Amino acid sequence: MSKFTTITAKVEEDGIALIELNRPKVLNAINRSMVSELLSAFEQFDRDGRVKAIVLTGNNRAFAAGADIDEMMNDDAITLELLNQFKDWDQLHTIKKPIIGAVSGYCFGGGFELALCCDILFASEKAQFGFPEIKLGVMPGAGGTVKLTKLMGQKKALEWLWLGEPMSAKEAHQHGVINRVVAPELVLEEAVKFARTIASKAPLSLRLIKETVYKAVDDSVLDGMQFERKNFYLLFSSEDQKEGMKAFAEKRRANFKGK
Ligand code: HXC
Repeated sequence: MSKFTTITAKVEEDGIALIELNRPKVLNAINRSMVSELLSAFEQFDRDGRVKAIVLTGNNRAFAAGADIDEMMNDDAITLELLNQFKDWDQLHTIKKPIIGAVSGYCFGGGFELALCCDILFASEKAQFGFPEIKLGVMPGAGGTVKLTKLMGQKKALEWLWLGEPMSAKEAHQHGVINRVVAPELVLEEAVKFARTIASKAPLSLRLIKETVYKAVDDSVLDGMQFERKNFYLLFSSEDQKEGMKAFAEKRRANFKGK
């Protein structure tokens, strides 16, 4: 694993990799180096055969309080275009393995957008989510408006984005934005437990289910079903399909190999 300065990343036991955001003095504000390091860590874990699922977290005070305002305050439209500002952000969506987010504290702006790059989200009862960009005279730029609208519907999304006020974990849960709300001291533990549970499932099925679900978000039912069918057929060329069905017939636990 490469040496990082804005995050820490390591492979834990049971096929779990853990990435922690590590700029605590600025509430894990996300600068460009952090996005680049995150992408590098995710890509390394995506290629690492030992890793079955990736957990992403911050610290108790903040998952991340947004993109780094100091870094971007003097930017202009052309600088951002020439930097290709969102290239690494976009690449985060190419990670094939399951990503489980464990959110405590502030999860604002780009931090919320990073959390929304996770496939499953666990949050502390005390976590706060929000898009305060309106108060800075800007708006989300890494998918926040789009994803929030798809998750909670246009009316509610407009309300949250226009007001820019924080949403409690309970509200985020009620609107389908996160999966589970847990006691503050259990967030990481529960996220890792969930990651361990899915780490024992057939890796190719996990991978193709992820791909098919995200495709379904934008597809018509019929188009989504055609895509689903192709992936369903594809799994029948895997050894794990043979093993899974044989194990069922023999009344034993399947031993999946991810091929
Ligand atoms: C840079 C930040 C920061 C940020 C906090 N800090 N958020 N630095 N960028 N997004 C720094 C503060 O300047 C301060 O540094 C230190 O972290 C602690 O923060 P405080 O404000 O003292 O803490 P607190 O009073 O507890 O308030 C917490 C807070 C507040 C409510 C979260 O920090 C805040 O409003 N932060 C900005 C949130 C925000 O607007 N996020 C959206 C950013 S725009 P010093 O040196 O003073 O100790 C965005 C666009 C995304 O994300 C576009 C796509 C990527």
